[in-house]
Amino acid sequence: MLSAKEMAAHCENSIFVGNRTDVIIAIPKELKERERRVALVPETVKELSGKGFKVQVESGAGLLSYFEDVSYENAGAQIISDRKSLFSGADVVLAVNAPSAEDISGMKPGCILISFIFAATSPETIAAAEKAGISVFSVDAIPRISRAQKMDALSSQSNLAGYKTVILAANALGKIFPMLMTAAGTVKPAKVVIMGAGVAGLQAIATAKRLGALVEVSDIRPETKEQVESLGARFIEVKGDDSIKTEGGYVKEVSADFLAKQQALIAKHVAEADIVITTALIPGRKAPVLITDDMVKSMKLGSVIVDMAVEQGGNCTLSELNQTVVKSGVTIIGESNLPSLLPMNASQLYAKNISTFLYHLADSNGFKWESGEEITAGSLILRDGKRVHPTVLQ
Ligand code: NAI
Repeated sequence: MLSAKEMAAHCENSIFVGNRTDVIIAIPKELKERERRVALVPETVKELSGKGFKVQVESGAGLLSYFEDVSYENAGAQIISDRKSLFSGADVVLAVNAPSAEDISGMKPGCILISFIFAATSPETIAAAEKAGISVFSVDAIPRISRAQKMDALSSQSNLAGYKTVILAANALGKIFPMLMTAAGTVKPAKVVIMGAGVAGLQAIATAKRLGALVEVSDIRPETKEQVESLGARFIEVKGDDSIKTEGGYVKEVSADFLAKQQALIAKHVAEADIVITTALIPGRKAPVLITDDMVKSMKLGSVIVDMAVEQGGNCTLSELNQTVVKSGVTIIGESNLPSLLPMNASQLYAKNISTFLYHLADSNGFKWESGEEITAGSLILRDGKRVHPTVLQ
């Protein structure tokens, strides 16, 4: 926590002191390839405007999420056409993805950026923020604790991604999911194997079950067994060993030996599957390889794999980033930005996450800068250009 003296010194520089109507929140258009989301939707703009914030939205920022400029204007926002003035005039920038180094260089010192940053793997963004003297909060670094659930953008987006992955797979499969008994004969239900039962995996299970598939699931955290079974799916038990390290609900480390054992055990299930969906991630590391070339070859002609870990190196050796490829008769989908394929819901949920986060960080006196508070400390990456988060200090 800051001392009273530090706090007083900070408050003199705070952009929030006094009337909140002085505070300008900027919403830029997302320029990342394949990105359709926007950080705030008209509904949340209305809420922020009602609380006295001035919201400026770059012209066309919401269009790919189907929100027109006029809807933002009606919600109280000002539409700005010139991207440079949007950034230079902002006190707080709310975005989905980190803006480019060039955009960051145009922000005024002391400005606050809140977006997905993935600090450990974004040295250019960190260097640009350091140089510009801005403060950065990363939504992907918000601790996954109960009181932060409303701000948890990783979960809200993974949840949608889990749904969409099943829809994509179903669309690419030349079969239906449910069992069908007709006069022309009985159609067997499709078999879906899901690797990884985190947020996305659990939503994929629920979606595949709703469509009528038989679902089998593997995860290496033993606590997932009960969650999987409660959704009506079968758990493929892979006996763990000492090499599996978990922390805060995440897998931290697994050995190559364990992965080889796991591959051998799941090979039979993969060979019999119509669809395999892989969601296994180890934060801060390359995704574990679960589906090898040989396992793909063993699958039936016409079956489908969706590799949700493709951006982190892939759970399947044959998946390609942002491509759909056919290998040995198996369709392998490597879409990296699944939430963006559902931009209306994804933007709406993200907007709720990020506005709740903003209300947590600031009150009517301005940003609270509570360095001893878990959510603030966990997500603050740079403070006025100074690196403060352990990830960027190393
Ligand atoms: P994630 O996206 O990092 O990983 C996905 C899944 O892959 C995890 O379930 C992980 O165990 C699994 N995995 C890793 N290596 C594997 C392997 N070799 N084989 C099979 N599966 C493997 O995880 P996500 O979805 O972000 O959530 C992880 C944890 O965070 C969960 O325990 C979840 O309950 C917890 N959580 C807690 C929240 C809260 O309390 N507010 C909110 C959201 C998540």
